Amino acid sequence: MVRPSMERWGDRLALVTGALVGIGVAMAQALVQQGLKVVGCARTMGNIEELAAECKSAGYPGTSIPYRCDLSNEEDILSMSSAIRSQHSGVDICINNAGSGRPDSLLSGSTSGWKEMLNVNVLALSICTQEAYQSLKEWNVDDGHIININSMSGHRVVPQSVTHFYSATKYAITALTEGLRQELREHPPHIQIGDIQMRPTEQVT
Ligand SMILES: NC(=O)c1ccc[n+]([C@@H]2O[C@H](COP(=O)([O-])OP(=O)(O)OC[C@H]3O[C@@H](n4cnc5c(N)ncnc54)[C@H](OP(=O)(O)O)[C@@H]3O)[C@@H](O)[C@H]2O)c1
Repeated sequence: MVRPSMERWGDRLALVTGALVGIGVAMAQALVQQGLKVVGCARTMGNIEELAAECKSAGYPGTSIPYRCDLSNEEDILSMSSAIRSQHSGVDICINNAGSGRPDSLLSGSTSGWKEMLNVNVLALSICTQEAYQSLKEWNVDDGHIININSMSGHRVVPQSVTHFYSATKYAITALTEGLRQELREHPPHIQIGDIQMRPTEQVT
């Protein structure tokens, strides 16, 4: 049953990155249950397609839309964004959830592991945010949300070498979330589309 407070979100669209497992799949399912269309992306489709079938057979009012996307590839993100904007009415909620936590320490980790963490945790989040912002402007959405799933590792450095680079990427999310908050405060008077009140929210897990 749709809770009254969620009614206005019925039939609107949420993008959840990293919706294959864990927190991402739980959020995607909860949003479909509340009547939203949820584009859940990941590189592997298995569980996401199963989730779509489960949501349908459970009779949830929303729809789960699996989308294959490698977030470390900018072209993949842009083509997903373009598909959402052309096939649906753009994004109303963007949940930047996907994360990569490779155990690559600073002194002995691999550059490829660092790059993967930077690509997924920092660059993909930034590209998805910019794309969501453009979509919200284009569709005149004035109550959209951009939600960044961070970590306690984005707020303190624990004495475990394998988490240090991951922690650096999560600190970047703390800075980007606050940066977005500041940019959104500056932008509305300078753009032509009226107020866009996106609320960048940082979820600490
Ligand atoms: N679980 C925790 O205890 C915990 C604690 C602190 C913070 N967090 C944060 O919470 C978020 C979710 O964590 P989780 O543990 O629930 O999930 P997870 O097990 O880390 O799964 C990550 C998700 O992201 C997707 N993903 C990874 N790389 C990707 C890429 N290049 N392109 C597209 N999708 C990609 C994965 O699917 P594919 O592999 O199929 O692509 C998967 O769906 C992350 O940002 C994580 O840092 C989690």
